[in-house]
Amino acid sequence: MSTPFNLNPIGEPWPSVRTPWPDRSAPLYGPAFAQDPSAYYDSLRRAFGPIAPVALEETGAFRGYLVLDHAHQLEILQNQDRVWTRDSRWYRDLSDGVLPLDHPLIPQFAYRRSRLYAEGGEHARLSGPGNKALAELDLLGTRDLIADLADQLIAGFFTGGEPRETCEVDLLGQYALQLPLLVMMRLMGMDEHSALATGNALHEMLSGGPGAQRAAEELDGRMRALVAQKRDDPGPDLVSWMHHHNQEAGLDLDELSEDVWLQIVAGRGASTTWICNTVLELLTNPALHKELASAICSMDEAMNHVMWINAPIQNLIGRWATRATTLGGYHLNVGDMAIISLGASGADPAMRSAGTSVSRTNKAHLAWGAGEHGCPARDLGSLIVRTGLECLWERLPGMQLAVPQERLVWDLPYIARSPSSLPVTIPSPPTDVLADVRNGQQQQWTRQHTFVSSPPRPTSTEAREQPSERQGRLPLWRSLVAWWPRR
Ligand code: HEM
Repeated sequence: MSTPFNLNPIGEPWPSVRTPWPDRSAPLYGPAFAQDPSAYYDSLRRAFGPIAPVALEETGAFRGYLVLDHAHQLEILQNQDRVWTRDSRWYRDLSDGVLPLDHPLIPQFAYRRSRLYAEGGEHARLSGPGNKALAELDLLGTRDLIADLADQLIAGFFTGGEPRETCEVDLLGQYALQLPLLVMMRLMGMDEHSALATGNALHEMLSGGPGAQRAAEELDGRMRALVAQKRDDPGPDLVSWMHHHNQEAGLDLDELSEDVWLQIVAGRGASTTWICNTVLELLTNPALHKELASAICSMDEAMNHVMWINAPIQNLIGRWATRATTLGGYHLNVGDMAIISLGASGADPAMRSAGTSVSRTNKAHLAWGAGEHGCPARDLGSLIVRTGLECLWERLPGMQLAVPQERLVWDLPYIARSPSSLPVTIPSPPTDVLADVRNGQQQQWTRQHTFVSSPPRPTSTEAREQPSERQGRLPLWRSLVAWWPRR
């Protein structure tokens, strides 16, 4: 049931007296922010100190306090005093209806009945089955699955047309956007038909076009159907394990579907940008590139460096005050928003002056978040990104940026930060990759990877067909990997 406008989410009246919004604030939009967010955060830091009141669009109605420094960020994320919530129904401006509801960011933080918007005991209840299922993953088997999907995507770069001396590829659209989503859908046990439909609907929803709402509803329906199917016919996948671990928690079908949905979307977004931003760093930082090539620096270290200088998730929108509080000298009202700028705290000038040797090994960055809502899938996320990058590096030596770095066009880094496309050139298809292309018959959605066992069956021990065996090879694989030309 929705709460009336004049009441907060726990049914109490919003305070009638509010401290006014500061006279001085800064825009958090525009080309300067999009092109070089680090420099932009530095300028905000110089003008305001560690906390900057910002507006996210021209009317100024969509506003919050941007938290630029590590110490304040950690304090809010750890939330020891229970001042803050991630439940966006506490955003007073949203509750009062003063926000421009057509702003593209609103759907990204609009309340849903999932762990992302829950706190305390309810958060633990909603997270239990999903986290326990993730712990069942065999990471070695999962690595094989990721490498297989990565190799198939790479082979796809060279299909169609005559073999050429050099091949140009949009590494974002043709690889980084696809690999994590394909991995997550496979881990969830989707068959090829439903993965293709889910990918299409997700693409449509994120494009924000006229079909976005319909696509979002279709996705909800698909998640519910998947969860219901795995309840009746469990197999070696995460959704089946979630059912198994749900026996105590007792989440209903909608709650389980929400968590499957959240894991797919969360797993896809940050992994995509992390792959993209690490490729970019390696192709534009010759010293790092050379050290990686001579094994002085590992891929993990290069990835950690990127967590500091170009965090995959730039800003967490947001955290809302559940009582009046102070933040860096500002008086905040109940329902005011804090935006945690992980991009800003990572690119702290002190860290940058310490150089890459520090950022490679120091894991004190907040790029995974922290506290109750910190990322529960760090091992899996790192594995997807590391394997994806290692496959690229092993299979495609000599890869280069196809345009000067300054010509890359960046999306506004409200949440994730990546360029609109990442064109690279690949000198000539290496023979082993070409062999895979010629052997295109082998390309398939489902190969026999053992990344997780089947959960024990609660009632019958009767042997049933495993989904991986039943699916076999379907001819949809090509359309599945080709569906995403651009975001
Ligand atoms: C690979 C790079 C990844 C990065 C950098 C990353 C980063 C983050 C961050 C910063 C948060 C905190 C959000 C907040 O506090 O508001 C988060 C939460 C979350 N992440 Fe990840 N993530 C990654 C991969 C994944 C993967 C592969 C999964 C798949 C299961 C996943 C599932 C989640 C979930 C379910 C949450 C919500 C946790 C909660 O609210 O309790 N993430 N992630």
